Amino acid sequence: MSAEADNLRRVKLAPSILSCDFAHLADELGAIAGADWAHLDVMDGAFVPNISFGLPILAAARRTSNLPLDVHLMIERPERHLKDFAAAGADSLTVHVESTPHIHRAVQQIRELGKRAGVTLNPGTPLEAVRPVLNDVDVVLIMSVNPGFGGQKFIPASLERIRTLRRWLDEAGSDAELQVDGGVSSTNARAVVSAGATVLVAGSAVFGKDGARAGLERLREALK
Ligand code: DX5
Ligand code: ZN
Repeated sequence: MSAEADNLRRVKLAPSILSCDFAHLADELGAIAGADWAHLDVMDGAFVPNISFGLPILAAARRTSNLPLDVHLMIERPERHLKDFAAAGADSLTVHVESTPHIHRAVQQIRELGKRAGVTLNPGTPLEAVRPVLNDVDVVLIMSVNPGFGGQKFIPASLERIRTLRRWLDEAGSDAELQVDGGVSSTNARAVVSAGATVLVAGSAVFGKDGARAGLERLREALK
């Protein structure tokens, strides 16, 4: 099997519940039970313009799903809340370099809590900003839209950023996951994986009109 076919087969899918029907959270999580991780977007109305959800929804998801819960914190000074998110059931916690002057400390704290540590950055932030912590994280997340809302268009320049980060991780001998979030769909999933991604987040492409099972299946088909 070629390296590319192997990557396509092995890529993890992480549906973002931001686009789900929260009145039926348990059913929605059930519909994505065949995914690899569930992605939870926490927004505080300060770091990003939107407010989404926080600890009670994470705790509810924990009670109803066996999937690893991948929490993307779009909040100012996330280090104030890491312990609470870990206690509420997060398996991985991803923090933005722009959200704290102490990104290295935040990453260390996540590791000390025994959780998978992720770092991420906005599309307008130079990639260099994550380089100093590459050896300290389990996940690097490339945002391929400006964070804050589901259903936005994939920013094409993200592909080059994914390729560069892929090279840096390989050079460092890092086996950190390279996750991509924003505007990922069955039309661009292959290109995103070919550029070097190992985890795809998808919200609106999964929780579409015909239900999350069909959405997830479409994404998997596109990677065959
Ligand atoms: C955007 C969030 C994403 C969002 C993705 O700020 O971080 O996880 O839910 O949604 P889609 O896949 O619809 O772009
Ligand atoms: Zn996200």
